[in-house]
Order: sequence, then C-alpha cells, then structure tokens
Amino acid sequence: MLQRGRFITLEGGEGVGKSTNLEWVARWLSARGVEVVRTREPGGTPRAEAMRELLLSPKAEEPLDADAELLLIFAARAQHLAQKIRPALERGAWVLCDRFTDATFAYQGGGRGIDTARIAELERFVQRGLEPDLTLLLDMPVETAQQRLQGRLNASGEGRDRFEQEHGAFFEAVRRSYLARAAAAPQRVAVIDANAPLATVQARLTACLETRVSEWL
Ligand code: TMP
Repeated sequence: MLQRGRFITLEGGEGVGKSTNLEWVARWLSARGVEVVRTREPGGTPRAEAMRELLLSPKAEEPLDADAELLLIFAARAQHLAQKIRPALERGAWVLCDRFTDATFAYQGGGRGIDTARIAELERFVQRGLEPDLTLLLDMPVETAQQRLQGRLNASGEGRDRFEQEHGAFFEAVRRSYLARAAAAPQRVAVIDANAPLATVQARLTACLETRVSEWL
C-alpha cells in the first residue's frame, strides 16, 4: 500500500528567516529523494490566496474583526487542506508548509487574546485529526527579528502588512505562545535557535532533520 507522505511545518515570528530556511529544508528533503510540495498559510491555493489577501491587506477604513480573522484563517485552511495538502499526502508526497495552526494559536490566541479552547474547536472541525508530523519553530528575540524585518522592508521598499504593523507586545505574546506550544508537544515541535548566522542556523536544522526525519526516509 502507498505510504502517506509526511507533513512538516515551519513556524516563527516575523523576521526570523522562515523563507530562506524553508528553502534549505526543501533542498535537504529533495536531495534524499523525497517529492516535496512546498506551500504556505494562509494561502496555498488560488482561493485560499484570495483569503490571504483579505487577511493581510491593511484596509484602514474598516478594521477586521478578530473572530472574522480567525474564521477566515480556518476557511483558507479548509480549502488548502482539501485541495492541496490532503491530496499530496495521500499520493505519498511530503508537504512542507510555511506556517499552519501553531501560527493561529500564537497570533490569534497569544497575539489577539482569543480563547485557545475556541481555536482548538475549529482545529478539530477543520483538520479532523490531521496535524503536522514535525514542526520546526525558528526562535529569536523579538527585537532582533523586528530589526531584520525592517531591513528586509527597507531593501524591498514594501510596506508592512496588517500583522507586521502590530506592536512589540503583540509579537512578544506571539513568541511566548509558540514556545509554550513547543514545550507542550516536544515530540512534534523542535525549537531551533535562529539568533545566529545563517550557516549556524542551517547546521542546527540539518542536525534536527537527521535526528527526527531520517527514520522516515
Ligand atoms: P507570512 O507568511 O509572510 O509570515 O505572513 C502571514 C501572516 O499571517 C503572518 O503575519 C502571520 C499571520 N498568520 C496568522 O495570524 N495566523 C495564522 O494562522 C497564519 C497561518 C498566519
């Protein structure tokens, strides 16, 4: 029987280096003969990407209600799971996703202060038991991450999206929630200290993949 693929997610606050390191993990897996489907949340399919746009665009004339934000995130997730993640896993491909439900617990739970029991209820409803096999949490102090984010925005000339416009206390709460979730599920979530030169972070990622992923290959 065809073996279901593995589901790996990458998490962390703004500016911790998720994109570069996602690329690294994808290459590590591909080099070992794994078919990797790279994707992201919110988004990952055309309709879910349209929902992402609603979530990220900073429309000053109408604030987005926190419950509407949460439901929109799970609506995008339902679409993404049905159209892309589940079919890929079922045909044996591995899915490497830039953010998933840990981000909802961190941003909507920690950042916005939504009761985590409500988030867990939506998680059960939408995911029906599916959760990542492994989550790599890139962690660094908020101040350092914010400086890196600002550097990237200055270089690209892009403005801040609706989440990037949040204040330091919001991101401190996001970081605390991520670390608390990691501590509660150490068998699934690996915390990678990302406050180091890129080569060091990638060496840490490699060590983590060798320990946790090699046995699945
Ligand atoms: P990013 O993919 O460029 O990091 O941007 C996605 C933004 O969406 C980021 O600021 C975090 C936010 N987000 C949530 O608030 N909740 C979620 O569940 C997810 C997946 C993302």
